[in-house]
Amino acid sequence: SFEIALARSALTLQVPAGRSILEVVREHGIDMPSSCEQGACGTCMVTVIEGEPDHQDVYLNDSEKRSGSRMMTCVSRARSPRLVLDL
Ligand code: FES
Repeated sequence: SFEIALARSALTLQVPAGRSILEVVREHGIDMPSSCEQGACGTCMVTVIEGEPDHQDVYLNDSEKRSGSRMMTCVSRARSPRLVLDL
C-alpha cells in the first residue's frame, strides 16, 4: 500500500493493494471523472505535486511518464511511499 495526500482536500488516504487511487478518492467524496478505467483514455488524470508515480497506463508517452508530473488514477500506483496529488 501507499499513502496519498490530497493537497486541495486536506485529506491523507491509504491505497491498499488491489484498489485504485480512483476508487479510494471516490470513497472519500472526491468527484473524479473516469471512462475506460484501464489506463487508456486520460479522463482520470491528475497532477502530481510530490512523489514518484508507478505508471501503469498506456496514455502518457515516455517523456511524460519520466517527468512524473501527471498520472492516471485508475491504474497507476506509487514508487515512493507517498504521493501528493492536486485533488
Ligand atoms: Fe481512462 Fe483512467 S479512466 S485512463
